[in-house]
Amino acid sequence: MTTTADLMKKKQNGEKIVMMTAYDYPTAKIAAENGIDVLLVGDSLGMVVLGYDSTVPVTMEDMIHHGKAVRRGAGQAFTVVDMPFGTYHGSLDRTLEAAVRVFRETGADALKLEGAGIVTDAIRRLVSAGMPVVAHLGLLPQSAGVTGGYKVQGKTAEHALRLLREAKEVQEAGACMLVLECIPHQLAGRITEELSIPVIGIGAGAETDGQVLVFHDLIAYGSHHVPKFVRQFADAGTPIRAGIAAYAEAVRDGSFPTDAHRFSMKEEEAGKLYG
Ligand code: KIV
Ligand code: NA
Repeated sequence: MTTTADLMKKKQNGEKIVMMTAYDYPTAKIAAENGIDVLLVGDSLGMVVLGYDSTVPVTMEDMIHHGKAVRRGAGQAFTVVDMPFGTYHGSLDRTLEAAVRVFRETGADALKLEGAGIVTDAIRRLVSAGMPVVAHLGLLPQSAGVTGGYKVQGKTAEHALRLLREAKEVQEAGACMLVLECIPHQLAGRITEELSIPVIGIGAGAETDGQVLVFHDLIAYGSHHVPKFVRQFADAGTPIRAGIAAYAEAVRDGSFPTDAHRFSMKEEEAGKLYG
C-alpha cells in the first residue's frame, strides 16, 4: 500500500508522482496496474460521469458511492476522495462528522478539500482526528461562482504571493499533499520548492512534484468541455463510438447473436414447448 511517507520520499528523490482521477472499479484497477501512484475520486465526477454542469450538485452519497468502487479496484495506489461542495465550511464538528463518514465508508487514504483560510482550520481538525488531507489551491471549481468562472489564478505578484502564503498555511495545518490547479508555472515552481510536502499540478506547468489529469480528458472519452492544459494521450471516443454503432447495426441486420452466443435445450424438451 502506498503511504504518505512513500509520496514524500518520491518528492525528496525527485521522482515524479503520477495522479489521475477514477470514478469506478475498472478504471481504478487498470490505472493501478499501469503506473498510477495516486487515484483521485474527484468531484469532477459531477460533470464527467453524472452530466451536471458544475461540481456544486455533487453529494456526500455520490462521493461515497464512487469512492467505494474506486477503493475496491485501487490495489496499491494511494486513493484520495474529494469532500463535496458545502460539507466543510460550517462548524468544525459538522465538518469532522462529514469527513469521518466519507473516510470510513470509502476506505480512502486521504480526503481533499479546496481552499485555505477557514478551510485551513478544517484541515487541522481532520488531521488531528487521524485523517490525511490533500489541500487544493489555485482554481477552485467549487467556488467558481464566486471567483468568476474557470480562469487562471495568481497571475499578479500580489495574488501569487497570497497563494504562496496559503500553501505554507495548509502545509503547516498538516496537509500531506497539495494540488495546484490552473496557476502560472513560475508560481507553481516557487510553491513546490518552498514546501516539503508533494505538490501536484494540473494546468500548473512542469515544475511541480507530479501531475494530475481527469481520466476522461486524457483518453478523450466524453462530451464535457476539455481545458487547454489537457493532453489527450489516447482517443478512446472513436473506438467506443465505432463499437456501439457496430453493435446496433449487427442487431438490426440479424448478424448478432449467432449460434456461438446462444444456449440450447434438448430437442425433445424444446418440442414440448408446442404442447
Ligand atoms: O475533481 C477533480 O478532478 C479535481 C482535480 C482537477 C484536481 O479536483
Ligand atoms: Na475536485
